[in-house]
Amino acid sequence: MVARLKDKIALVTGGSQGIGRDIALTFAGEGADLVIDYRSERDLPMAEEVKAGIEKLGRRCFLVQADLSSLSEIDQLIKTTVADTGRIDILVNNAGLEKRASFWDITESDFDLVFNVDLKGLFFTTQAFVREAMKQKYPAKIINISSVHEELPFPHFTAYCVSKGGVKMMTRNLAIELAPYGITINSIAPGAIETPINKALLNDKAKLESLLANIPLARLGQPKDVSGVAVFLASSDSDYMTGTTVFVDGGLLWNYQEQ
Ligand code: BGC
Repeated sequence: MVARLKDKIALVTGGSQGIGRDIALTFAGEGADLVIDYRSERDLPMAEEVKAGIEKLGRRCFLVQADLSSLSEIDQLIKTTVADTGRIDILVNNAGLEKRASFWDITESDFDLVFNVDLKGLFFTTQAFVREAMKQKYPAKIINISSVHEELPFPHFTAYCVSKGGVKMMTRNLAIELAPYGITINSIAPGAIETPINKALLNDKAKLESLLANIPLARLGQPKDVSGVAVFLASSDSDYMTGTTVFVDGGLLWNYQEQ
């Protein structure tokens, strides 16, 4: 089998767990070298485990700690990555979090936390990456891990939806602005994937059952359901795609029926 990402260099933000972890390992299996960004010391053991997995596949992996809610840490992340690897071909904007609260109870600090990582952090990581790619004049691919909630309402998660809606429009705008530079940008919008972001839901049988009833394929997604699409978007198979969102949601978004 031909490795679809042979000798490409990919930076995966939030790559120590969940969807990011699986994308990193899958990319390595396709021949890429990886840079994994992780948020805090607490995530280091998980990041080290991912690194060991990648090295076992015969690829290089660099770990960089950066909290993407800080512009100076984003800057440092891109500088360190380029110093370690010489260039970055693929950026996977995966880092993200969510906070549940009714609209009238959302605090400024929770709003800032969600918005600063999910939208502002993603925005400026992309900017720092693009500046580097333009300087070095290599074709590049940006993949945003958005959410089905860039379209679908998610009551009690309004800050999250606002951020993901922003990612959608950013993807469309940048597709046009970056095309002349050989840089494409697309999003993946996962539905309910079995990862740590869903811990509360997974532990609540009633909530889980009501969610499953809304998913035509009647199961939660697995991280590998997302990473297969990420490989496609990172590979030359998707060279003519930009500004698009691919939904990986078991049919959740367009599920409507009358009894
Ligand atoms: C959220 C999950 C949610 C899923 C489906 C994801 O974007 O992170 O908490 O279960 O969408 O609603």
